[in-house]
Amino acid sequence: MAASPRSDKPFLSDIKTIRKRARAHMERGAVTDSYTLDRATVLKLLNEALATEIVCVLRYKAHYYLAAGINAKSVAAEFLEHAAEEQAHADTIAERITQLDGTPNFSPEGLSGRSHSEFVVPDDLASMIEENLVAERIAIDSYREIINYVGDRDTTTKRLLEGILAVEEEHAEDMKTLMENFGQKGEPAKPGRSGRKK
Ligand SMILES: [Fe+2]
Ligand SMILES: [Fe+2]
Repeated sequence: MAASPRSDKPFLSDIKTIRKRARAHMERGAVTDSYTLDRATVLKLLNEALATEIVCVLRYKAHYYLAAGINAKSVAAEFLEHAAEEQAHADTIAERITQLDGTPNFSPEGLSGRSHSEFVVPDDLASMIEENLVAERIAIDSYREIINYVGDRDTTTKRLLEGILAVEEEHAEDMKTLMENFGQKGEPAKPGRSGRKK
């Protein structure tokens, strides 16, 4: 390492100080004095991510139940799998919010306003896949931004979000592959449906 320490302060606080600090503010649980990020901002960002994940669950579920055509079976299965993974992301984020002494916001009120991605349910398969790809790309961008903001000042949140980001990238890739293989624009997801938009 080229960097030299800027002061002769020891790298670790002495054990006495660490123990004293741990005993103070015990009501904060995992949040200790060495947490230097603005917690309110982190909690706000995490609650937005939570809302985004919930909207993603709802969107994938809506698409799953709508996509019932012969051509859509494997696409629907993919939607269902993604819905389950988005649910797992929502749970992971909610758990982290709790650890940071915040309250996960599961309220349906204002949900779509807090979410980065949108709830769009088109009638045709190709548009569904396209909407999901758009939503995944939004999720990828916002997770990347949050990860950059959090940086090394909250490595647990960072690591957790990096794990989620990797899955969102897989989701986007899955949707891209589906887009190449399935559905022409205007082809109804369910036989007998017209191009009715919701
Ligand atoms: Fe997700
Ligand atoms: Fe996703």
